[in-house]
Amino acid sequence: MPEFRAPTGTRDVLPPESARWARLIALFATLAEQAGYGLVVSPMFEDIGVFERVGESTDIVRKEMYDFQDKGDRHLALRPEGTASVVRAFIEHHPATPWKTYYVAPSFRYERPQAGRYRQHHQLGAEAIGTDDPGVDVEIITLLDRVYRAVGLRQRTLRLNSIGDATSRPAYIIALREHFGAHHDALSEQSKVTLRANPLRVLDSKRPEDASVIATAPRTIDYLSDEAAAHFDRVQSGLKAVDVPFVIDPLLVRGLDYYARTTFEFASDALDSAQNAIGGGGRYDGLAEQLGGSPTPGIGFGAGIERILLACDAEGVFGAPDSTVDVWVIDTTGGEQALALTHELRAAGVSADRSFDGRSMKSQMKAADRSGARIAVIVGSDELASSTVTVRDLRHTGAEGEPGQQAIPRQEVIDYVRKSL
Ligand code: HAM
Repeated sequence: MPEFRAPTGTRDVLPPESARWARLIALFATLAEQAGYGLVVSPMFEDIGVFERVGESTDIVRKEMYDFQDKGDRHLALRPEGTASVVRAFIEHHPATPWKTYYVAPSFRYERPQAGRYRQHHQLGAEAIGTDDPGVDVEIITLLDRVYRAVGLRQRTLRLNSIGDATSRPAYIIALREHFGAHHDALSEQSKVTLRANPLRVLDSKRPEDASVIATAPRTIDYLSDEAAAHFDRVQSGLKAVDVPFVIDPLLVRGLDYYARTTFEFASDALDSAQNAIGGGGRYDGLAEQLGGSPTPGIGFGAGIERILLACDAEGVFGAPDSTVDVWVIDTTGGEQALALTHELRAAGVSADRSFDGRSMKSQMKAADRSGARIAVIVGSDELASSTVTVRDLRHTGAEGEPGQQAIPRQEVIDYVRKSL
């Protein structure tokens, strides 16, 4: 057992798994940029106040934050999610609106680790700040849907809800309090505590004892103001227009306090229901103001890379790409042939690798076979003397079952290899 391991709830992502990460991130960046979203890189930690405004009744703020005093006695916290940082940056830099951004960022939550739930997870996120046009709600949801399509996920459900705005919220909260008050004894102890801070959050409870009380609770969509209802209608018709299927889930309030109006979540139907959220988001029209800016609407999503890849595993799609090099250079001269040839091949755009430590021919050949390379370029003392190299095809054998190989003049080898790949 090694003395040190990755901290509980974190994991190393190594090749070949990491190659899938790189591909997923590149796919996401391409799709986001195609839709006019630009990359934002913001600090991994912020003044703790930035996240506290996300909501005191939010678990990730109340119980799960990695916070610390730095050497200058500032109270900071590692980012538990991306939206608050992006909105803080928006207020600080006042870019032109709509400000459409995307990010790929680690997030830290002191959760109880289990399959699909980590203390450091990584989100693909996008935020569109400065407009409440329902068209941008559709754009954001469609962008995320495209990511799933691009990796080949099929078994997914988009749940959609509107949780109302500042006008409709008070009446709804009163109705909720009445309902939970009338069934107070049936609620879990945890939900009784949550109820005091934010009755909406009780709807989020997954505790079995709360299920029947939640099932009969008043529904946000029955309390929408005319304006919020009209907005929600247009989000729905927009999604239908672009063929993104969804189901209305009147209980979808999501785990963060900043949401207003549109909320949504994608679930993978191939994953266990406890950790099947492969992405979600919604509007946060009041957040900029809560963070000290002028009132500015916004909407976005976050989608866990780990969860998306777990869903891919469950559906058998988007496997690790073949990341082997094309050429293996074998050098038994004891000189700099391997160094020079790999250098030249790479400069010509050919992926190439070699052995180190002056290994024997046999050992280098083994390494070449193990690598999965298609071609071996071999230089021994004979080749050196005749200014040639031997090019061996590692995937196809010749008539006698011998690997096909050929002597090529040293100056022509780069071109020859490039053409034969
Ligand atoms: P969230 O639902 O808390 O939303 O997280 C977004 C996604 O991150 C989840 O759907 C899930 O895929 C993944 N995720 C969350 N926690 C974990 C974890 N402990 N381990 C693995 N994956 C996890 C937000 O964070 C909002 N900022 C989304 C948003 C953006 N809303 C508006 N804009």
